Amino acid sequence: MSDQKIVFLGTGGTIAGTALNALDHTGYTAAQVGVHDLLTALPGLKAGVGTGRYVVEQVAQLDSKDMGFDVWVKLALRVAYFLEQEDVQGIVITHGTDTLEETAYFLQALLGPAKPVVLTCAMRPSDALAPDGPQNLLDALVVASSATGCGVTVVCAGAIYGADDVQKIHPSRLNAFSAVDAGPIGFVEQGRLRLLRDWPHAQVNEMASGGLLVSQLADASWPRVEIVMSYAGADGTVVRALLKAGVQGLVVAATGNGTVHQDLETALVLAMQQGVKVTRATRCAEGRMLPGGNDALPAAPGLTPVKARIALMLGLMRAAPKSR
Ligand code: SIN
Repeated sequence: MSDQKIVFLGTGGTIAGTALNALDHTGYTAAQVGVHDLLTALPGLKAGVGTGRYVVEQVAQLDSKDMGFDVWVKLALRVAYFLEQEDVQGIVITHGTDTLEETAYFLQALLGPAKPVVLTCAMRPSDALAPDGPQNLLDALVVASSATGCGVTVVCAGAIYGADDVQKIHPSRLNAFSAVDAGPIGFVEQGRLRLLRDWPHAQVNEMASGGLLVSQLADASWPRVEIVMSYAGADGTVVRALLKAGVQGLVVAATGNGTVHQDLETALVLAMQQGVKVTRATRCAEGRMLPGGNDALPAAPGLTPVKARIALMLGLMRAAPKSR
């Protein structure tokens, strides 16, 4: 519908980066160009900004390695606000690639939107000789404008990924993302969608957010939840130090099908006995942990360690929303 609006929210990243040399794809500075300027630099999008079909807002301007809870809350509040507007069809968020999968999962777990919320990015700065950001922006716009689209997705290098499955898997190539064995939701080809499977579910992930309201999040203090890894020689030293630091939740990046070094496991069981929430996520890049065995520690089967951490934080905040 032509009177429907698309909202563009800028947060920074390489898509907004600049370099001293147009051939430099590594030595650039992220988050230099405003999202308004990124859009108006594209002939196809400039008109939409001018007519008011596109609403453009700079929520943050940062290298996403430095993403923090304050920006997440600000972003979630703006996304929630725009989702409620009847004349908003979909939302595009420009974001750095490095923590993009965390922000995508956070928004999906918290908001489970019935409209499309599309995160997009770039691997080359905006002033590169051949930047990838402009095409990613155009492709994200196609997804955000889709009448059927819903849920939080990521669009990069022509592919569409679900927030639950997406992972950055490569440090430099243009198609840096994958949904590993889940596969992409589909592709954007010449401005058209080719879908392979369903959009993400339009519902709050109860396991992850437990129905936490975005308005509660604004006043919440975030629980300290850290990730520890199981590896050869891992023991409980880090866990004991984190207990002293007042950690409230621990995710163990476990080996294989969720196994944990016995010395680390002993420390984690002790942490649980002291009231710390502990969960296991596999450190394997693909697949999901299968149930079985006599596991001493609870599991987050379909989640990577960074996403399991977000689920645990949201769950802890939900468990004590009034006191925070
Ligand atoms: C960032 O994550 O903000 C920088 C790296 C990138 O966007 O590719």
